[in-house]
Amino acid sequence: MFASLTVYALLALRICTVSAFPAYQSLAGLTRDQLDTVVPTLAYSPPQPLPGPLKDDSSILVYDAAHPYQPLRPGDQRGPCPALNTLASHGYLPRNGVATPVQIINAVQQGTFDFLTLPLIGFNLENSFARFLALSTFLVNGNPITNLMSIGGVTPLTGQNPPAPATVSGLNTHNNCEGDTSMTRADTYYGDNHSFNETRFQNFVRFSNEFGAGKYNYTVAAHLREFLVEESIANNPEFTLVSPRLFTAFGESVFPVNFFIDGRDKSGQLDLGVARSFFQNMTFPRNFYRRDGAVNNVGQDVVTNYYPFTPGYNANGVNSFVVDPTSATLSQPCLRYTNFVNNNIKLLYPNPTGLLLQSLKTNLQYLYEATVAAGDGCTQVFPYGQ
Ligand code: HEM
Repeated sequence: MFASLTVYALLALRICTVSAFPAYQSLAGLTRDQLDTVVPTLAYSPPQPLPGPLKDDSSILVYDAAHPYQPLRPGDQRGPCPALNTLASHGYLPRNGVATPVQIINAVQQGTFDFLTLPLIGFNLENSFARFLALSTFLVNGNPITNLMSIGGVTPLTGQNPPAPATVSGLNTHNNCEGDTSMTRADTYYGDNHSFNETRFQNFVRFSNEFGAGKYNYTVAAHLREFLVEESIANNPEFTLVSPRLFTAFGESVFPVNFFIDGRDKSGQLDLGVARSFFQNMTFPRNFYRRDGAVNNVGQDVVTNYYPFTPGYNANGVNSFVVDPTSATLSQPCLRYTNFVNNNIKLLYPNPTGLLLQSLKTNLQYLYEATVAAGDGCTQVFPYGQ
């Protein structure tokens, strides 16, 4: 596919067309007349149709000669997701860490043929899951005008921002998928919510030694998740774990078992050196094969059966946990979808118009289709009309 070329062409176009406005400066504060002059000059890149499920989801060599690890260059973006970081460091995603939703979905499952690189072979993440994850993060952290999202922080590479309160600040943003109780990243309250944190990784190691005989598996995931939540409630006065973050927190607990174990190894036991390779070093282990067969958050029931959690937050400093009755629970994917669209998206884009509106509507349609593909049976909501 031609995504890479398109992106570079659009970036070039953007530089030519909006030079009067500093890159990534928000358009907030401009008058309606000024906005009407500027917005049409932004390099619009419409949402592309999303990839479907893989035809071949067998185990394939991922760390091959065509995808060497390369260290970061100044300006390259990396963030809280060890998988996306790794894919970017090996060139399965643009190495600068700025990508379209389609590039992200292709990379985490397996892409179509890219004539500039080679077949894109990712982790074998199941298609509807990949679509929902990519679209939901893109809608709050990406740029709907340029169709680009940073897998890390704010960067001029995503183009000029749509008007505030939209943020377009990448996956580091503490607003949706990124949140408290990560395994290897600190809570936002402590400052850096996206860099590898050795202290937290040592908890990962300690629990793997205690409950997994030195390996990370579903049983370890359950015990570690309980620890992470209880630890945040006890120490983070601003602790919160509600939808949509709730879903990613519990899903991520089993992702290392489902995706970081070499596809030829069916033991379900993740080596801690391999874990560090992904979490800290952002690189595939040598000779790494992706898992055999597409999968999603299978195994999460082991975690929730051991540690059933009701969404909530610290209402008044540490150890003041209260349940949030407005949040979707893990068994309410449709409430998650509805609240996300009607609250999170509407908050960022209260009154979109023109191309921005068009892009949001298309991406919201894609998001809904991902819930259909997942078999959730949700009723579609239309915050901006049909
Ligand atoms: C569809 C694309 C994906 C997006 C947009 C995405 C995004 C994110 C984000 C925003 C976080 C931070 C959440 C936090 O605060 O802990 C995260 C964490 C994580 N992601 Fe991804 N992710 C994607 C796919 C994947 C895949 C395919 C894997 C596994 C191969 C994966 C594994 C993980 C893990 C293990 C964490 C937890 C890190 C930790 O707790 O320290 N992600 N992801």
